[in-house]
Amino acid sequence: MDIHLIWAQDLKSAIGKNNDLPWYIPEDLKNFKQLTLNQPIVMGRNTWDSLKFKPLPKRRNIVLTSKNNIESADTFDSLDHLLSDLINKKTKKIFVIGGAQIYKLFWGLATSLHITIISDKCENADTFFPFSMDDIKNDFRLILSRDLTNSAQYQYWERN
Ligand SMILES: NC(=O)c1ccc[n+]([C@@H]2O[C@H](COP(=O)([O-])OP(=O)(O)OC[C@H]3O[C@@H](n4cnc5c(N)ncnc54)[C@H](OP(=O)(O)O)[C@@H]3O)[C@@H](O)[C@H]2O)c1
Repeated sequence: MDIHLIWAQDLKSAIGKNNDLPWYIPEDLKNFKQLTLNQPIVMGRNTWDSLKFKPLPKRRNIVLTSKNNIESADTFDSLDHLLSDLINKKTKKIFVIGGAQIYKLFWGLATSLHITIISDKCENADTFFPFSMDDIKNDFRLILSRDLTNSAQYQYWERN
C-alpha cells in the first residue's frame, strides 16, 4: 500500500495554530483537493475537529481516536486496527492528512510526501511537523516542485 503524507508548513515547520491552519491559501487547498479526491484520507481527532465542512466529500474519511463518537467518518482506536482494515479492503493508496501526532505515527511507513513550503512568517504557531527538512532529505528524494503562489511551493518526494 502506498502511504502519502500531505501537509503545508512554514520554514520553521509550523503547521497549526489554535487547532486551525495558520494561513489561508486557496491555491494550496485546491491542490490538496485535486491530489486527495477519491482516495482514503486518514487524520487525527484534532484535525477532524478542525474541519469546517466534514466529512470531506468524495473521499473515505478515516479518523484515529480513542473515542467512538463520530458518525460521519470511519474511526479506529489504533494504528494496527486501521492497517488491518486497509489491508482487508485491499486499499492501494491512502493520504495521511495530519496533524502532528498522526504524521509522527505514520512517518516510518510513508512512501511519498507532498509538502507545501510557505515562506511567509507564521507567528505564534503551536503545532509543528515532527521531522526536520534534514530528516526528510535523509530518507526521501525530491521528485518535483512547483510554485503555487509567490510564497507557497509544492514539493513531491519519494522514499529512497
Ligand atoms: N498544515 C497542515 O498541513 C496541517 C494538516 C493537518 C492538521 N494541521 C493542524 O495540526 C493541528 C492538529 O494536530 P495535533 O497533533 O494536535 O492533532 P491530530 O494529530 O490531528 O490528532 C490527535 C488525536 O488523534 C488521536 N490519536 C493520536 N494517536 C492515536 C493512535 N495511535 N490511535 C488512536 N488515536 C490516536 C487522539 O484523539 P483522541 O483524543 O480522540 O483519542 C489524539 O488526541 C491543528 O492545528 C491542525 O490545523 C495542519
